[in-house]
Amino acid sequence: MNTRFQPLFAPEGTGGQPDQLRRMVEQMATGQPAVDESEYLLPVGRYWDVDMHRAEMDILYRRHPQALCRTSILAQSGSCLVHDLTGMPILLVRDKAGDIRAFLNVCRHRGMRLVEEEGVCRKSTLVCPYHNWMYGLDGKLVDVPKRELGFPNIRIDDIELAELPCQEAHGFIWVLLDREAKLDLSANLGEIGADLDWFDLKGHVQFAQATSEVPANWKMILDGFFEGYHVQRLHKATLAPFFTDDDVVFDQLGLNVRTAIARQRLADSGDVVDSPEGVRERLTFTYWLFPGTLLVVSPDYINAFTFHPQGPDHTTVIDTMLVAHAPQNDEEAGRWQRSFDLIHYNVFEKEDFGTAAKEQMGLRSGANEHLIAGRFERGLRITHSQIDDVLRAGGFDPGDLAGRQLAEGG
Ligand code: FES
Ligand SMILES: [Fe+2]
Repeated sequence: MNTRFQPLFAPEGTGGQPDQLRRMVEQMATGQPAVDESEYLLPVGRYWDVDMHRAEMDILYRRHPQALCRTSILAQSGSCLVHDLTGMPILLVRDKAGDIRAFLNVCRHRGMRLVEEEGVCRKSTLVCPYHNWMYGLDGKLVDVPKRELGFPNIRIDDIELAELPCQEAHGFIWVLLDREAKLDLSANLGEIGADLDWFDLKGHVQFAQATSEVPANWKMILDGFFEGYHVQRLHKATLAPFFTDDDVVFDQLGLNVRTAIARQRLADSGDVVDSPEGVRERLTFTYWLFPGTLLVVSPDYINAFTFHPQGPDHTTVIDTMLVAHAPQNDEEAGRWQRSFDLIHYNVFEKEDFGTAAKEQMGLRSGANEHLIAGRFERGLRITHSQIDDVLRAGGFDPGDLAGRQLAEGG
């Protein structure tokens, strides 16, 4: 037993932390991180194939909730935000009753884009610029100029904006692109919801945000978050001193995956730790919320990533840095800004996303038929087999493009 992990959590039932976090530490404490039976092969076509990309958009992204923004940026009734990155023209609105609505930003008259402003704006009604049909914040049509002459057969009460399922949870606005489906985020999150409560994701405050246009498939970017192998190597000038090399555990929970990597601080931890802050100083958790949301829980901040695939080899990534409270003074604001500059621009954008883009460049050269995930890079096996399973269940068979274990015959 590797005793350095033993004191990390208070005895069962006394510390308040979710039991599953304890389980991960217990797994680390064995000193023998789980490895897969064999290497896992990822055919290179799965990172560019157009049919697979379409199936992913339809079966993964359209049918599972996506976190579009923090609820706090639409706190006031009448706040509106246009969001176009999912492939659907979405208009988020806080209505008069205080509820968040996700409409298609499309006028019911002749289809004009209803709200055109970029960024958050305030409105008391939604008026189409083309012929001025007017909608309430609840999406109902309330006025049509020259209605008696032009539209005698249309019942105004029957017309409203098309609406998508939408829910506020853990401080985010989640939207489902499938209008017919039901959104039940707690069912999607499963037991991860308890972790997010424990880390008080809802109480965190948006400190900074940046958008990266990455010329790579979204799975190529995801891969970099699901192995600890590169941390001491690719990030040797930035993150490496803060982490250990091989203390990584993975936990598959429904469609989602949680992984934790031990920080150096863990090595000299002799205390019982039963607070979220204490745990965050010793372990860095990454949550993959299927399919396109990723949370990295660092000691001082949480990076929330949303992936928006724009094509097989182009992904828009939004990185939102969340902190426990609004900065109390200039010193704190300056420290967090320096952290964001380091972690977002140097680590994530330059090192991680930059690497994904360079891998993508090499894919079509024919040099590799497949990428190889090592036995300890099992996060890739877990995430990719999860993707393949959901695609199959949704009616798309990845065929030759499916990931597979080397031992199965390659
Ligand atoms: S298209 Fe909107 S009012 Fe005509
Ligand atoms: Fe990385």
